[in-house]
Amino acid sequence: MKRLITFGIALPALILLIIWSCSTDNSEDLPTTSTFKTTPYIIPEAEYFPKNLNIPADNPMTLEGVELGRYLFYDGRLSGNTSKDQLMSCATCHIQEHGFEVGIDNPKYIGGKTFGLPTEAFPEGEPTPNFMLPIVNEVYNSNGYLWNGFVNESNEYKGNAEVNVPAEEQFNFKNIESLVWMAITAPHEMNSTVEKSVAAIEAIPMYKTKFKEAFGTEEVTYDRISKAIAQFVRSIVSQNSKFHKYLRQEAELTVQEKLGHDLFFSEDADCFHCHGGSVLMTTNEYFNNAKDVTFDPGDRDRHAVSGDPMDVGAYRAPSLINIELTAPYMHDGRFKTLDEVIDFYSEGLVYSDYVHPLMKNVRQKGVQLDATEKAALKAFLLTLTDHELIKSPQYTCPEELKSWNGQ
Ligand code: HEC
Ligand code: HEC
Repeated sequence: MKRLITFGIALPALILLIIWSCSTDNSEDLPTTSTFKTTPYIIPEAEYFPKNLNIPADNPMTLEGVELGRYLFYDGRLSGNTSKDQLMSCATCHIQEHGFEVGIDNPKYIGGKTFGLPTEAFPEGEPTPNFMLPIVNEVYNSNGYLWNGFVNESNEYKGNAEVNVPAEEQFNFKNIESLVWMAITAPHEMNSTVEKSVAAIEAIPMYKTKFKEAFGTEEVTYDRISKAIAQFVRSIVSQNSKFHKYLRQEAELTVQEKLGHDLFFSEDADCFHCHGGSVLMTTNEYFNNAKDVTFDPGDRDRHAVSGDPMDVGAYRAPSLINIELTAPYMHDGRFKTLDEVIDFYSEGLVYSDYVHPLMKNVRQKGVQLDATEKAALKAFLLTLTDHELIKSPQYTCPEELKSWNGQ
């Protein structure tokens, strides 16, 4: 009886202790303690843009966090290396001038394919399995990241000791925080380890103040690195293409652009079902868009994530914002120009049982556009370039990192 009573008191006390220690651990990272103040970062509201933002509760955006994230995004030492020819940053592949893709004319990544850091097995660097995705307007997307949505809020993934993935939230493939881990460790990206990365950043004196401003103390941890970079990525919003300005009545479309616009948003060219629906120029849904899947059914398609047989050869319909800057096109980069893409949708579709029902004209090989319509559709796609975003100093490489960014 005596033991039972002792236990009866000890257990609630233990639970309280655990709750107390967990909550102090968490609050250490939240920007609200009395001596430590941060300024909230507000995503600018623009007409027609979604009000729903994908910002995890444990990583609220702050000016200080976004600024630290910008530095880390551009710092090639994040790869854990300090020798200049071994540097790789997020910006090595996600380049602002290309809408945060590599672009087809990159002298280092010829044809637009990206490669990780050189290894013994891959002296030129291991190629990424897929081509690039731009990282703009991610804050509006709650429907999964990567071409197949593998990183998704509804993931049940609880870590994997075998490949050294801890169970904590920021490693759980739920959100952008975990993509930072993937970029640091993937053999086809930085091919490094979290420990090397943290040690390299810790050794750079200027980060002490930046971590303190963003998180309250100078301590450098992976958790903080991933949170700050994710904040910066979420701050990259594109709302100022000519198309967006046209919607807000701040700009006019030419006759040709307007024709292309009307084709895009009608059954005639039929692009809007998958790429329309909102000013994001994507539904962020997954479709098999009638490319020849025997060409590359892939083990990285949507089927690999959902297990749904109808998802064979399906990928996320990417946003068409800045599409002019992000060639080559499709997850496998099979089209080099927008003309090739338009020809494909017009007369190049390949029927298979997996093609999504929204590809309504697949039996006729496409929507069959004439030369005038094709030119108009292309003219409209070119209005989706956000010239302000690609020059905005808010997103550029900090001056003091120019020689370290690994571009
Ligand atoms: C070696 C080139 C390379 C580097 C370095 C790199 N990425 Fe990427 N990134 C890619 C490729 C390729 C994809 C598309 C991968 C896929 O879906 O298969 C991608 C996808 C993404 C996505 C998903 C976009 C979406 O809409 O789903 C995000 C976010 C991202 N990267 C952020 C980062 C961050 C942050 C870093 C730095 C910590 C980084 N990347 C470093 C090549 C790179
Ligand atoms: C049934 C849905 C669907 C329809 C309809 C559709 N698309 Fe797509 N689109 C996709 C998907 C899915 C992808 C990505 C496929 C892949 O990577 O394999 C894509 C990719 C693209 C890309 C390349 C994007 C990139 O970043 O690589 C462009 C450009 C494009 N579509 C334009 C159009 C145009 C123009 C139309 C109308 C003529 C159209 N799409 C109609 C689903 C669709």
